[in-house]
Amino acid sequence: MHAHDADNQRTDQAAGLRQQRNQRPVKVITVTGGKGGVGKTNISANLAVSLSMLGRRVMLLDADLGLANIDVMFGLQPHHNLADVVNGERSLQEVIVNGPAGVMIVPGASGISDMANLTPAHHAGIVNAFSELTVDLDTLLVDTAAGIGDGVLRFAEAAHEVLVVVCDEPTSITDAYAIIKVLSSERGVSRFRVVTNMTRQGGDGSGLFEKLLRVTDRFLDVSLDHAGSIPFDDRVWRAVQLQTPFVTAFPTSLAAGALKKLAHRADKWELPKTARGNIEFFVERLLSGAGQAESEVA
Ligand SMILES: Nc1ncnc2c1ncn2[C@@H]1O[C@H](COP(=O)(O)OP(=O)(O)O)[C@@H](O)[C@H]1O
Ligand SMILES: [Mg+2]
Repeated sequence: MHAHDADNQRTDQAAGLRQQRNQRPVKVITVTGGKGGVGKTNISANLAVSLSMLGRRVMLLDADLGLANIDVMFGLQPHHNLADVVNGERSLQEVIVNGPAGVMIVPGASGISDMANLTPAHHAGIVNAFSELTVDLDTLLVDTAAGIGDGVLRFAEAAHEVLVVVCDEPTSITDAYAIIKVLSSERGVSRFRVVTNMTRQGGDGSGLFEKLLRVTDRFLDVSLDHAGSIPFDDRVWRAVQLQTPFVTAFPTSLAAGALKKLAHRADKWELPKTARGNIEFFVERLLSGAGQAESEVA
């Protein structure tokens, strides 16, 4: 081997390492649904654990201010949360809590959903926090609050994939429609993955998916993909009581089987070829709120 070949090889290796550390694309999936109580937190938490069990490095960001927070679901008692990161008092590394199956959890903070009111200093704090993150990630899952507040919309528009959780109740269908509508008309999101949840008696959720599809097809220019269906299963509720994910507490349950199927699918979702998929890019998009600025001008 010539000396310069070895040099080239070293340069390639260094470039490869840089590639792995900084440019490694992180798939960002935001879980939303409009309505509260449809299963967003249960699905994001168990999807995170399932993806982790498939060997992915997964971070779960709690952007929900509701009562059923991720840390409560997993029986964790975090000392710090995202608010400390935003205020520049802690690094992201310091607030991350180790969850089941090695999922890295960023505990939620009241105020963070109010992204529009963060000061430039807060923005800088968040960007720095994510840039300094030394762990390699494959997937970032974001669990959002109910409703269509600005924070929820920002987390959705900044993600690669928006997972809309819907169950077979008129209010859930209406709310799912509402969030799809506002994301498509004001935030430029045109592609959605739908998870039908709490389906009954062996139903595969296709009827419910069709219901939602009929209204979106009629009134909106969006594409919907039926990503999966989770049956109503008492063990979901029991796992919540036990403060453990149902995929590990009751691995043979119907809900766990369905969730694992969803995880296999989600794992195969490809990032856009052009994606500057790294975490900093997500954070930049999260904070820039481009869609919001445009709609304010209009
Ligand atoms: N597939 C399911 N089968 C049975 N109960 C479910 C299922 N999915 C969610 N639940 C229950 O619904 C309630 C709300 O779920 P949660 O994930 O907190 O909803 P959200 O985050 O949308 O408010 C919880 O009590 C949970 O146990
Ligand atoms: Mg929730």
